[in-house]
Amino acid sequence: MKKNFEEEIKRRRTFAIISHPDAGKTTLTEKLLLYGGAIHLAGSIKSRKTQRHAVSDWMEIEKQRGISVTSSVLQFDYNGCRINILDTPGHQDFSEDTYRTLMAVDSAVMVIDAAKGIEAQTKKLFAVCKERNIPIFTFVNKLDRYGKAPLDLMEEIETVLGIRAYPMTWPVGVDGQYRGVYNRLEKTIELFAQDNTHGQKERESQKYPFPSDEAAAVLSEEDYSNLEFDIDLLDTAGEKWQPEKVAQGKLTPMFFGSAMTNFGVQNFLEEYLRLAPPPQPHMSDKGIIAADNPEFSAFVFKIQANMNPAHHDRLAFIRICSGKFTRNMPVYHVQRDKEIKLSQPQQFLAQDRQIIDEAYPGDIVGLFDTGTFSIGDTICEGKEHFKFADFPIFPPEKFARVSAKNTMKRKQFMKGIAQLTQEGAVQLFEQAGLSTESYIVGTVGKLQFDVLEYRLKKEYNVDIDIVMQPYEVARWLSYKDGSPVTPESLKGAERGMFVYDIVKRPVLLLNNEWALGWILNNNPNLILHETPKE
Ligand code: G4P
Repeated sequence: MKKNFEEEIKRRRTFAIISHPDAGKTTLTEKLLLYGGAIHLAGSIKSRKTQRHAVSDWMEIEKQRGISVTSSVLQFDYNGCRINILDTPGHQDFSEDTYRTLMAVDSAVMVIDAAKGIEAQTKKLFAVCKERNIPIFTFVNKLDRYGKAPLDLMEEIETVLGIRAYPMTWPVGVDGQYRGVYNRLEKTIELFAQDNTHGQKERESQKYPFPSDEAAAVLSEEDYSNLEFDIDLLDTAGEKWQPEKVAQGKLTPMFFGSAMTNFGVQNFLEEYLRLAPPPQPHMSDKGIIAADNPEFSAFVFKIQANMNPAHHDRLAFIRICSGKFTRNMPVYHVQRDKEIKLSQPQQFLAQDRQIIDEAYPGDIVGLFDTGTFSIGDTICEGKEHFKFADFPIFPPEKFARVSAKNTMKRKQFMKGIAQLTQEGAVQLFEQAGLSTESYIVGTVGKLQFDVLEYRLKKEYNVDIDIVMQPYEVARWLSYKDGSPVTPESLKGAERGMFVYDIVKRPVLLLNNEWALGWILNNNPNLILHETPKE
């Protein structure tokens, strides 16, 4: 029984794919599903551009392929491994949602467009992974087209991201017409057959040892000697293979391929599963909690409502950190200080969503939520209760006044806004002295306003007006002597906007850091807080 539990943990791989939009994250995800046998025919996913920022990229896969996932996680088996891929929003703005998702993974795959190299969004997402020391694997995509030279890409990763790269594979042939990949650990080349299916099916290939006479017989003299030269260079001048550095997030194993034409994808998947870490321990206020700790524990990293528009349901996604999860098990909800039962847990297999009976560390489970959960909550079993480390809160930087176009829809508007606030998508403020016909909404990125507009329309049938406000910083306010902060007592309050957050804490919105300095200088009794003070 114990052995089974440990094996279940060891075979799990929970990760996210991160990339700049258009680098190929969706295509690669789809191909991993194809190779995992979770879908049988991959199709090029067209015309997804129009809505991409508002919905999960996977919803597009779902639409195109008829898979009913609409979820934040895909689960499937490959080579004995149980894979959990977590979706990260595919839009330009860095969002808290992405950060929270990365709190729930054990490793990340970074997809880079071979022609474009490291792009802005990749850099931001990478920084989050690095801060958390998450092992990062690199997949250089679009090798079927002309791109930057592999050595230049390696250097770019090292100089722009500040992480050393260890190529696990290396392209064979000439740029734009690569024929296959060399596998450095196996010392083989894999040459791919012509792709006649436009990437819809697994690509046929043939392996040869390298260097060898067999390889010399199938490669041109030039390709052969170029490859020999490159490999020699990597072996002598490149980084040494150090798996412990990969585990610490200090060395990224690098793979080359084309998600669209299924070139190098299987190679990547297999090596990745072999090297990627199984469920890792998590820090709590009572010390480190190992995955094989027999008592169940998990944290909520995401809340999403209306995943199924027909039911208006709300799911809290938990990442299991230790112990075995069973349906109907009683657990202790630490933040609420009460026992709860986990009934109707949902898990997401590639084909559909189903009620599950058990799950293990590394797994993501969706729980029906009637308002019990908040992001960052811990649930655990056993006598000694503990709390996992808090999620970071990002101070909002964009603000807008938001109101319903049609005042008759005020009720739905309030309901929708409250829901999205609870999900952590936006932060809500009320302007001091104003009625609640309109709210001030704060977000980390501008794009969240598009999402807000889209979701209020789609899920609550409310059209809204959004008027951007000129503020860029928010500070929660308190006085050193403990007296209440009011608009009247604060000198210069009119230089910004005095608002209250949803639990009525005073907040000042200001244009810039300079204005902050002025306020501080003129209110010696004042303390400014970047995040809400308990
Ligand atoms: P994303 O999720 O990271 O945003 O990227 P996505 O997979 O949507 O891919 C973005 C575009 O890049 C798509 O083209 C996709 O077909 C293409 N692409 C993905 N992988 C490869 C590859 O290995 N080689 C080449 N040449 N292209 C690739 P699109 O124009 O948006 O759509 P479509 O018309 O190709 O379907």
